[in-house]
Amino acid sequence: MRKFIILFIVSLLIPSAALRAQEVKRFFPEKDLVTTGIYYYPEHWSENQWERDIKKVSEMGFEFVHLAEFAWFKMEPEEGRFDFTWLDRVLNLCSKYHLKVLLCTPSATTPTWMRLNYPETFVMDGHYIRAENGTRGLESIINPKFRGYVKKIVAEMAKRYGQNSNVIGWQIDNEPGAVPDYSPSSQDAFRTWLKNKYKTIDSLNTAWGAAFWSQWFNSFDQVIIPNTNLVGWWGNNPHALLDFKRYSADAQAGFLDFQAGILRNYISKAQFVTTNYTAVCTGSDPNRTRKLDFAAYTAYPNGGSDNIGESGFRLGNSDVVLFAAEYYKSVGGVSGVMEIQPGPVNWGSYNPLLLPGTVRLWLYHSFAAGGKIACSYRFRQILYGAEQYHAGVIQTDGVTPSQGGKDYMQFMKEITELRRQFTSGKKMPEKLAARSTALLWNVENYWSIDRQKQTEQWNTWDYPVKFLKTAKSLGAPVDVIQETADLSKYKLVIVPAYEMVDSALVKKWQDYVARGGHLIITCRTATKDRRGHFWEGETAMPISNLIGAHISQTDMLSSYGKGDILMNAKHYTWHSWGDLLVPDNTTEVLGTYDNQFYKGKAAVVKHRIGKGDITYIGVDTDDSKLEKDVLRQIYQDAGATMEDYPPGVFVYWRDGFYTALNYSSDNYTVKLPDNAKVLIGEKILKPSGVLVWTE
Ligand code: GAL
Repeated sequence: MRKFIILFIVSLLIPSAALRAQEVKRFFPEKDLVTTGIYYYPEHWSENQWERDIKKVSEMGFEFVHLAEFAWFKMEPEEGRFDFTWLDRVLNLCSKYHLKVLLCTPSATTPTWMRLNYPETFVMDGHYIRAENGTRGLESIINPKFRGYVKKIVAEMAKRYGQNSNVIGWQIDNEPGAVPDYSPSSQDAFRTWLKNKYKTIDSLNTAWGAAFWSQWFNSFDQVIIPNTNLVGWWGNNPHALLDFKRYSADAQAGFLDFQAGILRNYISKAQFVTTNYTAVCTGSDPNRTRKLDFAAYTAYPNGGSDNIGESGFRLGNSDVVLFAAEYYKSVGGVSGVMEIQPGPVNWGSYNPLLLPGTVRLWLYHSFAAGGKIACSYRFRQILYGAEQYHAGVIQTDGVTPSQGGKDYMQFMKEITELRRQFTSGKKMPEKLAARSTALLWNVENYWSIDRQKQTEQWNTWDYPVKFLKTAKSLGAPVDVIQETADLSKYKLVIVPAYEMVDSALVKKWQDYVARGGHLIITCRTATKDRRGHFWEGETAMPISNLIGAHISQTDMLSSYGKGDILMNAKHYTWHSWGDLLVPDNTTEVLGTYDNQFYKGKAAVVKHRIGKGDITYIGVDTDDSKLEKDVLRQIYQDAGATMEDYPPGVFVYWRDGFYTALNYSSDNYTVKLPDNAKVLIGEKILKPSGVLVWTE
């Protein structure tokens, strides 16, 4: 009994996100490390090839098959007539070849009878033109008629497969992206959303600053969705647009929860419910869902961009998995990659061959960052359709593995070996815990800043990511966290361009510092309230006591202008953003502007409160070197050891395994301690190379 009471009290002390994470872990036995799968679309192939294909999936080493994603036309060929016999046959084949199944709800592609008979099930674009038959992902997720059909198909699927012990889980929809919808149903839903939020029209008028340019409303009935397509991007009301983003994200989350709710009426507790967000996710907000077990992501690092060095265009952009792997963990405690690019795609600016080993590199990246699922789109390259040029793990002949397929097979073989080497209960090594870092992220700040960038030089997505990259280059384990998360377990918390705040959040940061935390706050933080209004006072007023400085003005330079900063006798260049700081008496100035008419003004300051400190970085430097030096100094002052990995080299630790990855075009020699035991790869890491070891 005593044990029970203690457990109960402990459970009350653990924040709910952590509890949720523990719950979710039950779907993924620790000793399996990661489970691998592949998308298969039996509806694209003749039935007499299904068995050959499924057998091949199994022989290649995959553990589950991802099915039914876009197959609504096959499951409900006519309104109200359901046919699952074909899917039963595929599921039986999967059992025969010892493959588990991950089922998808097909709501991203409606069947032709619905497209033709019920056009209202499509979104309307910003010119009030309805989408129509021809593609996917343009359903009006708010439309009651559409929801009615979704409810039926999802319930039918869940009734049929919800208790099937071979089905491990469900993916809802495909890459839910909160597509803007200007249709009448969405207009109604938006007004309802606003009524719930503001209660009175005057409070909406105040929040939207509707006195500006005579936008004042007398009643909610007069409100329409702010539409940049018709009134111009530059002139539109930023507060109304912010609310439209919030509404669209809520509608998207509501649609996912709606489907999850239907599934849960029928499915067993052993089956998980998730979805596959895009890696760079700027429309949806995964943290708004309530009924999904966790969030997975899709990752396409190579879409024809230069990246690092001469082979960079083959290796892809490391930021894609880097950010997504951490971000999506913040939702349910675990995550994984649902689609990893299997080779050249069809939609890049150009679509080069990947350096052999690149797919394996990406798979290891997701794995190293804690991924529990490593799945890929798709098994066979299709012979027709919009994606016929898109690689699969099997080539167009239906039997030969592509280079990506070979990479996958190698990865799966190696994971089997790592499973043998796994011992449970490994704690993060002290040297890593000593530099544990969190990066605070809220997509609402992205929406708000991206709407009013003030300078084209500002890259709203890259800016937070550069801090993640910089901390990783110093060898820190970095979590991307929400503002509600517990900060106390991190030595360092970075708050990059966190534009909208309230006093409770600032107090939380202050408390974290007072108890000994190290906080980095950067430019563009706390300049607005949650409505997106400025303060009636100095810039970033709520944090001026915290940072021990005042932002007197902000400058930005032309693309050929050169801003110069001096810090510790070193010079750094900048263009995009520079806050001119006036420090308080007790605040230490770390860096100053060294040219322009305000030469000598502070750009970087440090303020101590209680047992901790806050560093305010008011400038966005061109190559992040200043930011790196600031971080390095903080880790050093905190007594942590550090690494110094070159761009494109990342090292992770999970479940007792260290993994080093090389996205650069040069060899890199990993410095291994004497007690290191190499399990996979060689310590000279070639481009696309992977090294796994234990210490
Ligand atoms: C993903 C999508 C897949 C497929 C793939 C092509 O974004 O989820 O269905 O279209 O892109 O690269």
